[in-house]
Amino acid sequence: MICVALTVFAYMFQAVITGIHERTFIAIKPDGVQRRLVGEIIRRFERKGFKLVGMKLMQASEKLLRDHYIELKDRPFYNGLVKYMSSGPLVAMVWQGLDVVKVTRAMLGETNPADSAPGTIRGDFCVEVGRNVIHGSDSVESATREISLWFHPEELTCWNDCADNWIYE
Ligand code: RTP
Ligand code: MG
Repeated sequence: MICVALTVFAYMFQAVITGIHERTFIAIKPDGVQRRLVGEIIRRFERKGFKLVGMKLMQASEKLLRDHYIELKDRPFYNGLVKYMSSGPLVAMVWQGLDVVKVTRAMLGETNPADSAPGTIRGDFCVEVGRNVIHGSDSVESATREISLWFHPEELTCWNDCADNWIYE
């Protein structure tokens, strides 16, 4: 019930929610889908202890991707980035948990796979910055904006996690 109320509140007021209810937007990019990395990537977030609250396989429109990456609109790679991200299906997800934005960014690795440590997703599964298999929100504020861009409120599911008492003290 608290979870439903928080979701509605966050949508109505674009409110930033932290603590164990913090959420982030993660997308397995088209190269991640083509390279059959979906199961491996989801497995990493599940095993960490984060909670999956939304997920869909979709081919995103160029318009949605232009909005999503609007902060990069003046960068020389912007058009190529939009083409790449709209070139095939991607997996859009919302994950929830304590410090989920910061921790999932660390699990992704650096933007350039060459700078990403082994053990991170980009460090383990890709080589070039323009094919770096996964997106993750870079701040709680970005996560709030991106979740409302990619998901309708009714597409996010509040569910009781029976492992909660073993993940949080
Ligand atoms: P993302 O938003 O996809 O999670 O990536 P990020 O925060 O690590 O990096 P960001 O600066 O937001 O860049 C978004 C995506 O643009 C592509 N990129 N290409 N050719 C280049 O120099 C270049 N720089 C960035 C990458 O796909 C990057 O993930
Ligand atoms: Mg980014």
